Amino acid sequence: MRDATPRAVELKNYRPPDFLVDSVRLEFDLEPASTRVSARLQLRRNPAGRRDAPLVLDGQGLKLRRVSRDGYVMRPSEYEVTAEALTIPGLPEQVCIETEVQIDPSANSALEGLYTSRGMLCTQCEAEGFRRITYFPDRPDVLARFTTTLRAERAAYPLLLSNGNRVAEGELADGRHYATFEDPFPKPSYLFALVAGQLQALHDTFVTASGRTVQLYIHTEPAYVAQCGHAMAALKKAMAWDERVYGREYDLDVYHVVAVDDFNMGAMENKGLNIFNAKYVMADPARATDDDYEFIESIIAHEYFHNWTGNRITCRDWFQLSLKEGLTVFRDQQFSADMGSAAVKRIAEVRGLRTVQFAEDGGPLAHPVRPAAYVEINNFYTSTVYQKGAEVVRMLHTVLGADGFRRGTDLYFERHDGQAVTVEDFVAALADANGVDLAPFMAWYQQAGTPQLTVAHRHDADAARWYLTVHQRTAPTPGQPEKQPLPIPLALGLLGADGRELPLRLADEPAAVGTQRVLDLRSAEQTFVFEDLPQAPVPSLLRGFCAPVRLQVDLSDTELAHLLAYDTDAFARYDAGQQLYMRVIHRLLAAHAAGEDLTLDAGLRDAVGRCLDDTAADPALVAELLTLPSEAFIAGELDVVDPAAIHTVRRFLRSALAQALREPLRARYRALAPDGAYRFEAGEVGRRRLRNLCLGYLAELDDIGPSLCLEQFEAADNMTDTAAALALLAQLDVPARERALDAFYQRWQGEALVLDRWFSVQAGSRRAQALDDVKALLQHPAYAPRNPNRVRALVGAFVHGNPLRFHAPDGSGYAFVADQVQAIDGFNPMLAARLAQALTRWRRYEPGRQALMREALERLAASPKLSKDLYEVVSKALA
Ligand code: TRP
Ligand code: ZN
Repeated sequence: MRDATPRAVELKNYRPPDFLVDSVRLEFDLEPASTRVSARLQLRRNPAGRRDAPLVLDGQGLKLRRVSRDGYVMRPSEYEVTAEALTIPGLPEQVCIETEVQIDPSANSALEGLYTSRGMLCTQCEAEGFRRITYFPDRPDVLARFTTTLRAERAAYPLLLSNGNRVAEGELADGRHYATFEDPFPKPSYLFALVAGQLQALHDTFVTASGRTVQLYIHTEPAYVAQCGHAMAALKKAMAWDERVYGREYDLDVYHVVAVDDFNMGAMENKGLNIFNAKYVMADPARATDDDYEFIESIIAHEYFHNWTGNRITCRDWFQLSLKEGLTVFRDQQFSADMGSAAVKRIAEVRGLRTVQFAEDGGPLAHPVRPAAYVEINNFYTSTVYQKGAEVVRMLHTVLGADGFRRGTDLYFERHDGQAVTVEDFVAALADANGVDLAPFMAWYQQAGTPQLTVAHRHDADAARWYLTVHQRTAPTPGQPEKQPLPIPLALGLLGADGRELPLRLADEPAAVGTQRVLDLRSAEQTFVFEDLPQAPVPSLLRGFCAPVRLQVDLSDTELAHLLAYDTDAFARYDAGQQLYMRVIHRLLAAHAAGEDLTLDAGLRDAVGRCLDDTAADPALVAELLTLPSEAFIAGELDVVDPAAIHTVRRFLRSALAQALREPLRARYRALAPDGAYRFEAGEVGRRRLRNLCLGYLAELDDIGPSLCLEQFEAADNMTDTAAALALLAQLDVPARERALDAFYQRWQGEALVLDRWFSVQAGSRRAQALDDVKALLQHPAYAPRNPNRVRALVGAFVHGNPLRFHAPDGSGYAFVADQVQAIDGFNPMLAARLAQALTRWRRYEPGRQALMREALERLAASPKLSKDLYEVVSKALA
């Protein structure tokens, strides 16, 4: 164990800063192994701070060379330096403190602060990385004006960038040069960035609504500039969209995006200088899949939208993280919905939320959208803060309507521009602009866990009435034994026997109001009475996934099939199908446990067959309807998880459906063949999705599957079709498998990002030797153990994409992952802590696996050196 148990930071202990920084002048003498940083802070006591408090500047791993106060070098006795701070007592109202430190970016493998990536120098400061660059009050409620000078060798670092406008540049002695940047907008330190390297840019311009021309640059290694067009187009669309939908214009004259190879997350919204994981910048048809194209578009938009939701208005403290992330995810979701097929986007979002966030909410790391305490803030960049946070904003949008929501955000921007605020401030702006009380919604930010809605309904034929009773309950989560009922907007419609939507009249209303309603749930149990319904309707509930809840309704298989066939709400239609699949899966699991033969449910076969025949529907939607719940999703629905049983049953269902629907699947697969070259357009994306979905079923047929996959693999002119075929072949024990893997490797061996896919499909294979393959691939020359993309492509893909082998009953998967986590923790704690999360839900598994997972966690807990990040995850998992 660690020698000192790390302490938690608590929201209730928030105190305003004692000192404010009006301006900061940074100077960097950049060298990969030894960079000098001098920082001149113009400080002022905060009227809201404590009188006479000492100045405490955060700093970590810095070699302090000099401290001066108002121009005079201070004696070491006048300040105190610890591993985490520089403390200076006895300062007046206003003071200028200058420090000079030395750091070693080339030794920075944690990728927080200033580090090197393939010869370039770059930064990542969110959340607390700036303190690894210089001494500073590294907290988001200290906003300062930054002026930054970079000096570096010109040959190795021809491009120098920092936030804001370049105001000076020139030559220095010894082949060095410099550039100075001024960012006119006060910002917290986490939004600081610098880049130095040999990069080339794709350039374009954007003219804002008020007529200003903004220079746009996307910088990558020279060989990849040709792949930046899609990202640039996405950026321009996002800029126009934010003007149109939120009235938000960009505020600087220049906007840079820089692609970096080594990056812990997706991308970072540094003011005017976004830094991106290269994976989310570069794309061309031969190298990127449709999913990659979509990710790039939404992440470019996400970081751009942060300019207003995050940068112009930032967070008071890190507990408010969802203030910027939940809202910005909601905005990027709205944007993506406008760019493509909205219904299909929504389904994909919900699928992600249900598999990842619901699992988080039901495990030992469950936390509210606004956590109350953390040991390491890096552990809270979670699906709960991001995705559930976005769902809470979506509910507010539903409650206020699009116009009301816009009035609310207008007031939010007007009131709080330039400030560091809280979730309460955001909700208050929405409420005040609309004259409504949204205080009950704060509970969504404070209460962890997924509410369970249980719905009962009853028809009274004589009175032509239909009763709907909704009961809500949230199970306890760590630290929150008692839960309150939450305000839940519940969107519903009712379908008649002919599949048509019925008019909705509640008991106290004079006439029907439309065919879709949003009911206002507030208490633990509520009953709604609908009139004029001589026949029992089939309820279509939780339309559009209007709230992040689990829903249980007592509908028959026939009623679910009716919704699957007729529901006009695409999400509800999809969801009816998923419930139908889950019912069948539950029955199959029971049969499997009883040692009975597995048989295909005829009703399900017919329902799936009808979907496959629905040529009027958007192919992308049909692909969603035909997608079985994943093994991870199924696991989340069970009380006691046996991953091998889930795998067996799901695979049986896939191959039984493939056999039963062999001819229609083949016909649809053929009919959806491409005509013409790859285009990234919604219609084409949908066509490819459905076609590859058909291929997935057909791959289960031993006689034709392998050859169809190989044929597609060899004929494809784009990565979407290549990757789909390769992933299927990687599952099979056939000669075509090696042939395809070899061909793929030969073609892409020089391109790390493309090769990640080659690692991933092997790590995700159901074959018995998958873990041995993964271990062998760790030694492959193309594997880079310190690059997070590589680690996620191999180890991450095994952990998250291969439940069958990760959960091998002998514990070999757990032992392997624990070893990896331990090794990675030594150089990149953020990455290690994320991987370790796969072990934390051990209580949900059958006893044998439970014991083995726990053993792996205990081994980690006992390691002599454990980062704060990993300590928090492991100790909570074992608590
Ligand atoms: N703010 C970034 C985003 O969501 C997230 C992020 C990027 C991040 N890099 C990080 C968070 C490193 C923590 C650490 O857009
Ligand atoms: Zn973000």
